[in-house]
Order: sequence, then structure tokens, then C-alpha cells
Amino acid sequence: MSKKRVLITGAAGFLGSHLCDRFIKEGFHVVGMDNLITGDLRNIEHLFKKEEFEFYHHDVSKFIHVPGELHYILHFASPASPIDYLKIPIQTLKVGSLGTHNCLGLAKAKNARILVASTSEIYGDPMVHPQNEEYWGNVNPVGPRGVYDEAKRFQEAMTMAYHTFHGVETRIVRIFNTYGPRMRLNDGRALPAFIGQALRGEDLTVFGDGSQTRSFCYVDDLIEGIYRLLMSDCAQPVNVGNPDEISLKDFAEEIIALTGTTQKIVYKPLPVDDPKQRQPDITRAKEILGWSPKVSRKDGLKVTYEYFKALPKEEWFKQPKEFATKK
Ligand SMILES: NC(=O)c1ccc[n+]([C@@H]2O[C@H](COP(=O)([O-])OP(=O)(O)OC[C@H]3O[C@@H](n4cnc5c(N)ncnc54)[C@H](O)[C@@H]3O)[C@@H](O)[C@H]2O)c1
Repeated sequence: MSKKRVLITGAAGFLGSHLCDRFIKEGFHVVGMDNLITGDLRNIEHLFKKEEFEFYHHDVSKFIHVPGELHYILHFASPASPIDYLKIPIQTLKVGSLGTHNCLGLAKAKNARILVASTSEIYGDPMVHPQNEEYWGNVNPVGPRGVYDEAKRFQEAMTMAYHTFHGVETRIVRIFNTYGPRMRLNDGRALPAFIGQALRGEDLTVFGDGSQTRSFCYVDDLIEGIYRLLMSDCAQPVNVGNPDEISLKDFAEEIIALTGTTQKIVYKPLPVDDPKQRQPDITRAKEILGWSPKVSRKDGLKVTYEYFKALPKEEWFKQPKEFATKK
């Protein structure tokens, strides 16, 4: 019997590359697609020699053509860290809107089931804690982060419309902060930023007074949740994340203990619209998918730290990516 074919957009990124690995392991033929704007081919280099993997260098905000059958589509292409989407706001809005529309059109044409990567950012700076899927969010559409948050909210609306009006089988995962190997040290998110500073022997920068909270999910747990959601019959959005919440100040202290750095914590002003609290309510994922995270922060951080430590030293000092295009 021939293998089922899955298209993964954003395949060369952090999460996309882990998804490619998982679907190959599950016996699928994987079609990866990426324009490499924030991704890195090194994340999927090991897959190029496999017959069951093919790759298209393509911008999904433009019309997508994939020959042959497709059974599943996972739409993960999008700049994901604030340091990226603040520099390329238009592309971020385009990939969440036009890119999603193109993926949904492809799903309809191929009669494929599609899962789109949404985010806890659709809850904005939440007034409800922890956030469950019934909460509509508190987003500033014209604030700097609006380009990402609103693109993802539009993505959800468009996905639901394709489900309701065209009968496309759709799944929406609302991903909360996830970490693990293949993240970029310089992507501006708290976890790689702290580890990068510790590796370089710099002080760890906490924004605000550090009382704002985050909940970090290890990548293997997230991928398991996504896989289960895709295979479920749930068209409603599902939160996938780790509810183990920690303040950024305490988290910085955990990183200091983990890395053994002698540096201290320094405080800087809080960026505009930075969410104060983040914790997923995962009741729905537990009930519908039988899913809950298994990897403790202690274990996940250890693996992630070892990954960053083993990178060539010049990677520790690499500046954040600059982008040539404004469109
Ligand atoms: N990592 C997280 O904690 C997190 C949390 C919530 C949601 N998400 C979502 O998961 C997805 C992947 O995030 P990530 O952390 O792996 O980010 P990433 O930047 O590592 O990966 C995104 C990938 O998408 C590609 N891409 C961007 N625009 C594209 C376009 N127009 N055409 C083709 N490829 C394009 C990039 O080159 C990159 O390889 C994103 O949709 C993001 O919004 C991630």
C-alpha cells in the first residue's frame, strides 16, 4: 500500500522540522515546504536522503501547487517570535491570511484534512486565567504585536469558515510557549535568550519586574498533542501547552542554576503589550485527546541546554536575523 502523503508548511522551522520527523516515523510520505525566511535547512538536512521526504522552497503566501495526492496538511509557516514578526510585519500578516487561504484551498482541492498552527497569542494580554478555549481574548489590533495576533485570529476565522461552508475537515491547535532543540538561540524568546546569555557569560535580562508568568511545553509533548488532534474528530480549537506556570524571575534563576553561570539578573523596561500571565487550561485536550504533557521542565531544559551548548561557539554569538525584504 502506498504511503499517506502529508504537506507540512514551515518545515524548516523549529516545530515544522520536528513534525517532519514525527510523520516520517509514523510511516507517512512528507512534503516539506518553506521559504526559509526564519527557518534553517540544517533542521531537516538529515531528511533529504530519505525517499519518503521531498522539499519545496516556496512562499505559501503565493499560490501553492503540489502534484499528486495529499491526505493531510499542517500549516505551520509563519514567523513566530516577536523579534521576527516585528521586523517583517507584512509577511507575518500575509502568511496568516493569504498563506492560510492558499492552504485551505489546497485542502479543499485535494480533499485533505488540514491542521493550522494557532497560538496562545490570540488571547492577547488575557483577562481570564488560566485561558480556556471559550475565552475570546484581549488583543490590541494596532499595537506592535497585533500583526501576529490578528493574523492568527484571522487564520482561525478563515479555517472555521472553510469547515462550515465548504465542509473541509479542519483542526486548530492553540500552541502555548514551546521549547526544545532546534530553537534559535537569538530568536528573542525568554528561554533561548537566557540560555544564550548564560553561555556567553552575560547577565540575564528580565523585562519588567519579572513577575509576569509563562508556561513552557517541551517540544515532544507538543508534537504528540498535535498528532492526536490531527487524528481526532475535533474541529474546535484545542489548547496544547504545559500548565506548569513560572514567573520569569524564577525562571531566570532556574537557568542560572542549570547552567552554573556566575552572572546575575538585570532588569529592563517591559516591552509594549507584553502579556502578564500565560497558562493554558488543557481540560479540552485531556478530555478529547487523552493528552497531557509528560516532560518536566527540569528534564526538558536539560536536553535543550545540552543542544545549545553543543552548537559551534560562533552560533552563541550570532546576531538576530536581518531581513532583506519589506513586502
Ligand atoms: N514555538 C512556539 O512556541 C509557538 C507558539 C505558538 C504558535 N507557534 C506557531 O507554530 C508555527 C511554527 O513556529 P516555530 O516556532 O517553529 O517558528 P520558526 O520561525 O522556527 O518556523 C516557522 C517556519 O515557517 C517558515 N515560513 C515563514 N513564512 C513563510 C512563508 N510565507 N512561506 C513558507 N514558509 C514560511 C519559516 O522560514 C520557518 O521555517 C508558527 O505558525 C507559529 O505561529 C509556535
